Amino acid sequence: MTASDRRPRATRLARWLAMIPCVVALNAVVVACGSDQDATDLGLTGDAAAGQRIYSTSGCAACHGVRFQGVTGPALTGLVGKTVTFTDGTSAVVDATYLTEAIKRPQDRQTAGYTMKMPENQLSDAQIAQLVAFITALKG
Ligand code: HEC
Repeated sequence: MTASDRRPRATRLARWLAMIPCVVALNAVVVACGSDQDATDLGLTGDAAAGQRIYSTSGCAACHGVRFQGVTGPALTGLVGKTVTFTDGTSAVVDATYLTEAIKRPQDRQTAGYTMKMPENQLSDAQIAQLVAFITALKG
């Protein structure tokens, strides 16, 4: 064996080793989605913590992401204060009132850039208020 064919083999091994953390991270995401459990400890308390529990048990995570990063639906992190444009060309600055309306009457308007509207839900006003407290706590 010469020195020149030893080096590529070592490089290949290094590449393999470098991939291990990625594979582990991917598994963690799959497990988190499958169990519908809250994978992220944000250290929230009160209404915001209650809202996070509702988020992870009411199917929100399926469309908005286990880390609220957005999937089929928009990212919720850092959303408050942003200007959202709707498919009808109007726009609004996201605040607690906007979030409440968006969750309470999701079919009323559609955020531009999404091919589907968010489905209706059976949440109570109290639960929606907790969700709003939670989303407001998700500072980018
Ligand atoms: C089936 C997918 C789906 C589910 C489940 C879902 N959403 Fe949505 N959501 C969307 C889509 C798509 C939009 C953007 C289109 C629209 O405005 O309807 C959206 C928009 C929103 C918005 C407004 C964001 C913006 O940028 O205008 C909020 C807030 C929100 N969702 C919160 C929630 C919460 C809280 C839950 C759980 C109770 C939830 N969503 C469940 C798909 C979903």
